[in-house]
Amino acid sequence: MEKLNKDKILQNLPANKVNLEIFNEIDSTNDEAKRIIVQNDFHVIIAERQTKGRGRLGKKWSSPNSGNIYLTICTENDHSNSPLSLVTGLICKRAINKISNKLLVSLKWPNDILVKDKKIGGILVEKEIQKEITRTIIGIGININIKKQESWWGDLSNYNLETKRNELINQILLEFISMSKNMNPNWMDEWRDSCIHMNKKIIIEVGNSFKKEAFFKDIDENGNAIIETDEGKKVISSGEISIKGVY
Ligand code: BTN
Repeated sequence: MEKLNKDKILQNLPANKVNLEIFNEIDSTNDEAKRIIVQNDFHVIIAERQTKGRGRLGKKWSSPNSGNIYLTICTENDHSNSPLSLVTGLICKRAINKISNKLLVSLKWPNDILVKDKKIGGILVEKEIQKEITRTIIGIGININIKKQESWWGDLSNYNLETKRNELINQILLEFISMSKNMNPNWMDEWRDSCIHMNKKIIIEVGNSFKKEAFFKDIDENGNAIIETDEGKKVISSGEISIKGVY
């Protein structure tokens, strides 16, 4: 396993814009991002282990062993116009692709990262509004080598990436900062091409009240899912989908 290394992680990043903190163990890098004072454009928090790693929809994110990526990018710049969950998924896909020599990575709405139909990563975007300032907290978890406790859990252990963790984090940060400056206008097409369930039959669940079979038709510019049910088209902003044969 490659140790986390500040210099490698910060390579080619604008030094005057990024603060980086590395912890051996923390409750959750997203929770730390809520506690800190943000003094720079991007405050990045990385931990080797999390004792209270959190996933979307109140779920846990298992983070007991080192060697994986538990990363939070925290910023008070205005990101109100970008569908961060989906775009960050794309950024991670691109970064893994680049570092691994074109490993096939796909995406599941809203922000699961998949390799060979197993979830190898996820993204948790949170917003905190204090007075007039909105703090955007983007948590990224990527499993490089984990004990798989569920059939749908995957990792990158077959792809010789154990020694490329710093490079992968560096690539994610480079892409994220570049996206913040200049949103790629083709992101929707790129997302559609990466999506594993475009035009496929899915089951969508929104809270406890809504669970339905539907066709996943598209996304919109805000990152919502557009689905077709027996009651017609619906736009869904948050929820969870499952795909037959995948998970
Ligand atoms: C999901 O798929 O449900 C999202 C998982 C997000 C996990 C990351 S790990 C770093 C950051 N800190 C957390 O507590 N969660 C996110």
